Amino acid sequence: MAIPKTQKAVVQPDKMTTDVILITDHPVPTPKPSSDEHLVRVHTAAITNGELLWTKNFAIPDEFAAVKILVPCDDVAGTVVTAPASSPFQPGTEVYARSNYNRTGCAREYTILLTDEMAKRPQRLSWAESAAVPMSAETAWQALFIHAGLEAKAGVGAKGKRVFVTAASGGVGVWMVQLAKWAGAEVVATCGADNVEWVKSLGADEVIDYTKTDPKQWAAEEGHKVDLVIDCIGRKSLEDAWWVVKPGGTLISIFQPPDGVKPAGVESNIKHLFFVMESNGEQLQKVTELIEAGTGKPALDSAFPIDQFQEAFKKLESGKTRGKVVLDLGAN
Ligand SMILES: NC(=O)c1ccc[n+]([C@@H]2O[C@H](COP(=O)([O-])OP(=O)(O)OC[C@H]3O[C@@H](n4cnc5c(N)ncnc54)[C@H](OP(=O)(O)O)[C@@H]3O)[C@@H](O)[C@H]2O)c1
Repeated sequence: MAIPKTQKAVVQPDKMTTDVILITDHPVPTPKPSSDEHLVRVHTAAITNGELLWTKNFAIPDEFAAVKILVPCDDVAGTVVTAPASSPFQPGTEVYARSNYNRTGCAREYTILLTDEMAKRPQRLSWAESAAVPMSAETAWQALFIHAGLEAKAGVGAKGKRVFVTAASGGVGVWMVQLAKWAGAEVVATCGADNVEWVKSLGADEVIDYTKTDPKQWAAEEGHKVDLVIDCIGRKSLEDAWWVVKPGGTLISIFQPPDGVKPAGVESNIKHLFFVMESNGEQLQKVTELIEAGTGKPALDSAFPIDQFQEAFKKLESGKTRGKVVLDLGAN
């Protein structure tokens, strides 16, 4: 396959605003010799809510900032075009990944991916569904099996534990529910009224409609408190989540440090932490195996052809999405 010199790409011309444009003369990157860089033809790339504000709000190391072009979408699925000779992902391999945010993103026809961040994509998923998986599933994996210390073992790794997941209908929340259930936990989940049945179908034992039930009041009832709370939405939801944890339990946030919203009078013996996920192809490969075995499905809200990128960003910003919004880069 001939590799073009230029390509279509969505770019953010100014990090101080969230405007994005489509260009057709973005250079196709060339993998560095003797590196673990692969050139990948992108099929689909998923947008993350709020990502157009990241460059303004979070500094990246100077060596990356000097070369990064502001292309959004770090979640990607595609086909390897060129690979280092020693790579397990040789040309033609269908892969997916959470590309490291410090580098140029993947809303472009060709991108660079590293060996350590890739996994083979699940063949039972569509290309659009595949791009919806990596960051969300890896974040859930790391919350449960790294930061909360549960074991990544089917049926037994979290047996006897009660886990409470907020925003369970979101991109990350669906994986928190499914992976915690897979490991044997009892799962209580929160979401809006329209998604209650759907979240139950993912395996949650109890689903709370956050528009009707106050988690603090719910947790005050005998036997309701849990061993582990994972809050995926932050602010008021995280503040309330403090009341849901048992003494000696753990509260994890993927939105903000929990101590910033700790209510007065809450139990003091609670381990609490915030973390930022890291791309990890090994964990993603385990997720692929689970999906292939029938455990775990992503939340895909919608997919838009690259030329309709503005509609895609608007859809996600509307807040009325169930899962990820994906761009289709037209590789077929
Ligand atoms: N720290 C990290 O490494 C990391 C990694 C990934 C994502 N994140 C962050 O985590 C957050 C969630 O990401 P996402 O991709 O899952 O977002 P998302 O798909 O946009 O999910 C938002 C969900 O939140 C639910 N929701 C809104 N208010 C709620 C409330 N008060 N209680 C319970 N649920 C509520 C909505 O449910 P209904 O529609 O059912 O109302 C919606 O499904 C984002 O801020 C993202 O930036 C952090």
